[in-house]
Amino acid sequence: MEHKNMNNLKISAKEQPLFAIMEIVQRHQAEQGPAIPILQDIQSAFGYVSPQMLERASEFSGIPVSELYSIVTFYAQFRMEPIGENLIQVCHGTACHLAGAEKITESLQFETKASAGGTSPDGKFSLEKVACLGCCSLAPVITLNEETNGRLTPDKIKKIVKETRKLSAKNAEAMGVCTDA
Ligand code: FES
Repeated sequence: MEHKNMNNLKISAKEQPLFAIMEIVQRHQAEQGPAIPILQDIQSAFGYVSPQMLERASEFSGIPVSELYSIVTFYAQFRMEPIGENLIQVCHGTACHLAGAEKITESLQFETKASAGGTSPDGKFSLEKVACLGCCSLAPVITLNEETNGRLTPDKIKKIVKETRKLSAKNAEAMGVCTDA
């Protein structure tokens, strides 16, 4: 049920962004300490939390914009810029660190041209370093658009990135978007 609500919110975030923010604020308004859940839902719906979204959330909730801003800049879970077409999260928990997470990050940076914490110039990939993803026996681990990939090597990364590019190009073609990929 919650999942369905989130999907509806994602749709209205695209079509009616103001309405989506208002709905999110209303959903959490009565809770104690609503600021973080409001911001988390805004990020789930839009993929990021922009300064404009903070202003709207502040207007609707009455929470000072400075308070919302400090939460978003303090917690690593929030991002203030849109992410690329594909989000790759690289686990840097202890098991993955020992299994070569740094090397995996370097391969990803090389293959995607995105810096850790940034987005590739073509907008296709965003890379994020995250803490333990909860599947340490598969270390080193990444998630690609929330799908877990484990026991990675630089060669596997190369293959994954190549396949993801192909899939993106195919999807763009199916939607009639011009691409040089
Ligand atoms: S340390 Fe990477 S999944 Fe646990």
